[in-house]
Amino acid sequence: MFHFKKLAFLFVLASMVLVACGGGAAPADEPAAPASDAPFGAASCAPDCTYADMVLCYPQLGAESDWRTANSASFKETAETLGVKLIFSDAQQKQENQISAMRSCIQQDVDVIALPPVVETGWDAVLQEAQDANIPVIVVDRSVTADASMYATHIGSDMVLEGKRAAAEFNKLLPDGGNVLELSGTTGSGAAVGRAEGFRADLNSNITILDSQTGNFTRAEGKPVMEAFLKKYEGQIDGVFFHNDDMAIGAVEAIKAAGIQPGDLVMISVDGTRGGFQLMLDGWLQADVECNPLLGPQVMDLGLKLMNGQEIPKEELTDEQTYYADQAEELLPTRKY
Ligand code: AHR
Repeated sequence: MFHFKKLAFLFVLASMVLVACGGGAAPADEPAAPASDAPFGAASCAPDCTYADMVLCYPQLGAESDWRTANSASFKETAETLGVKLIFSDAQQKQENQISAMRSCIQQDVDVIALPPVVETGWDAVLQEAQDANIPVIVVDRSVTADASMYATHIGSDMVLEGKRAAAEFNKLLPDGGNVLELSGTTGSGAAVGRAEGFRADLNSNITILDSQTGNFTRAEGKPVMEAFLKKYEGQIDGVFFHNDDMAIGAVEAIKAAGIQPGDLVMISVDGTRGGFQLMLDGWLQADVECNPLLGPQVMDLGLKLMNGQEIPKEELTDEQTYYADQAEELLPTRKY
């Protein structure tokens, strides 16, 4: 298949080598710039591409949480504002759907693919296909295990740090130790893996993780997992770590039904959605670790730079913080998601 961008890429690469060599052929002892230094993904409009030139593919992983809804909205609204043509799809939590959507975008010769990977592994083949077509992939939100040379950049949260921030809250609130439970996110997802790792790395040794089960980042699954925990560990639970606010909201229904009162358990969540802030206001959560979903503007800015053959950092981590229950009343009305 003929790829116009590939031709443009080769042209820009050839020009760079010519400029680097003073307009002539490279001397035998001076190798041309390695491919990794080349402006990978440069489009035919480079260096004057604008947002109006951009076709951006976003194979969203699903719609499991308020965080995800806000993330999708951020891409749709930013694309509309900037005049970017967005090819958006919803993979319904299935990696094979995300891969099919990516292949369709490669066929359509889009300018940039922004991939929020549902799980970390299994991306090598499709990343290679995008690379062969000179389409840069920006990994968004969760991480992949593929070698960093397979994609242009990763932008999102530091999931390990989020787990560490949650652990710090438990260490403060359970100074004499105790037993905690973990409601984990989707198994194999960068968010769940990173949060679990950071949590375990920083949790004080006098705090025991009694059990960890996935609630797949959803309210619907958070509730039955919590019901099962409450039954199995009755009288032994001091705290619960939720990998996201939606699972916390589902779990609180089960906790209420069990007659537990706000403040009886130490409960820390991740995301900082309006739902999480409401749980803090109602006394259920003591703290909520921020995970910012509003990544559309940053991704499109990076995409444009790639199209124009500009260098971009290999990773951009979002600047985030921990919110506390005593801030909830003031901050809830200001929350954008
Ligand atoms: O990958 C980010 C996580 O995915 C968010 O914490 C969660 O709410 C979402 O579903």
